[in-house]
Amino acid sequence: MFDGRLEEQRKRLRLTPEEVDRRIAESPFGERGKEWARRWLAVESYGQVGLALFKLPPIVERAENDILIDVDGKEYIDLLAGFSVSALGQCNPELAETIGAQARKLVHYFDLPHPERIELAERLAEITPIKGGKARVVFGVTGADAVELAVRAARYYTGRPFILTAFGDYHGVTYGTMSLTGKGGMWAYFYPIPPQDTAVGYFPFPYPYQCPFGRPPAGKSEEEWCLERLEEYLEYFFGSKESPYREVKNDITNVAAFVVEPFQSSAGYIIPSPGYLKLLRRIADKYGILLIVDEIQTGLGRTGRLWATEWEGVEVDMLLTSKALGGGLPLSAVVARAEILESWGPGAHVSTQAGNVLACAAANRVLEVVTREDFLAEVRRKGERFYRGLVELQSRHPLLGHINARGLYIGLELVRDRETREPAPEEAAFILDECVKAGMVFEKGGYFHNRFQLIPPLTIRESTIDRALEIFDEAFTAAEKRFGPR
Ligand SMILES: Cc1ncc(COP(=O)(O)O)c(C=O)c1O
Repeated sequence: MFDGRLEEQRKRLRLTPEEVDRRIAESPFGERGKEWARRWLAVESYGQVGLALFKLPPIVERAENDILIDVDGKEYIDLLAGFSVSALGQCNPELAETIGAQARKLVHYFDLPHPERIELAERLAEITPIKGGKARVVFGVTGADAVELAVRAARYYTGRPFILTAFGDYHGVTYGTMSLTGKGGMWAYFYPIPPQDTAVGYFPFPYPYQCPFGRPPAGKSEEEWCLERLEEYLEYFFGSKESPYREVKNDITNVAAFVVEPFQSSAGYIIPSPGYLKLLRRIADKYGILLIVDEIQTGLGRTGRLWATEWEGVEVDMLLTSKALGGGLPLSAVVARAEILESWGPGAHVSTQAGNVLACAAANRVLEVVTREDFLAEVRRKGERFYRGLVELQSRHPLLGHINARGLYIGLELVRDRETREPAPEEAAFILDECVKAGMVFEKGGYFHNRFQLIPPLTIRESTIDRALEIFDEAFTAAEKRFGPR
């Protein structure tokens, strides 16, 4: 079935039991941690993301706010927040109380209405910047669920087939969403049937520091240049540019929607050129395309605004939320222009766990907290403290090429040379290992495997930020010693 090269690649991707044993033996964890890791990998799939992000992740037993504690009692600063889920900190007492009380009242009622769910829908409709103001909501369980629901609704409502997304975006890895996730490395695991959705197209993401269109000409900022080129590219795509071969400019399309992340999260916490969403909104309005923003990772205060979309002052046709929404319980929602969700009939969507009562109760509490006066100002203030510390580190560590930061949404890019911006993936991997050893976890990613995504709980303490900076300082110093000046 496979040609030789594919077999070779599969062998390289595979983890062997010997490699697993080696990773466990060489890990910095205590004896209990190693024993749990052996039990874990004796029984669970080798395809787990934890084994791709870390050589071996710590086996965490308990946690409190911004600190994780593993089975040997070792503490780790949490710059992952369960991948943006535990925004209010681990085991948040207010959330624990809400979930406990709800568990004694009603836990699950299929995909049917209950007061917590109705209240949550009302809240979401009220706080989301939906075009025209009137919104409706549909609930799902996971982020991918929300993306699939949004795509389905967009196609049904517009009667058009195509969806456009940005190269490098992450929207899930189900059969329905995989084609929207522009990461071919993950497609490698879909054999022999590829992701089904063929009516999906990609455009370059305006990533100014490594602009896909190259460096700007003199006198132009990287941000401006990257966005201008994207605009030209999209004009070319839609055929809206003047052409000597056409009498009329093209003003029709069969694109139903743009589905985009406002900032690219899984690709490395990359903040695009300012004006990105405004540009998409302008094109969307011109052609009757829907603008769908996936705020599954960026939303609910992470960037210092309730939604990252608000940084652009843009109103959207649909907004997708999940992760932090359920406060650790699985829940997602599509908030859409009312008309769109009025266009289909009863039974158009169903899921046994959608709008789970316990998760909705937790989500109501999450929304109540993140919309409290001063909550977002506090996120911005802590983000500023973290950012200032990182800028200071950057002045002493040439490896730290670039910092993206809005609120507590922080991406670091490691380069071997600040002039050429040559990525530093080995150094990045080394630093992550050093940090895990020292007691700190975060995500490593990036188009070139050289970015760190720092995702602390929004409730992180200042003392934890300061300690995180110290650990980074030591790890960067160790990397410089190991790899030498470049
Ligand atoms: C922006 C974004 N969209 C969608 C998803 C998919 O969510 P889930 O893993 O819950 O399906 C993720 C997950 O990381 C995400 O970051």
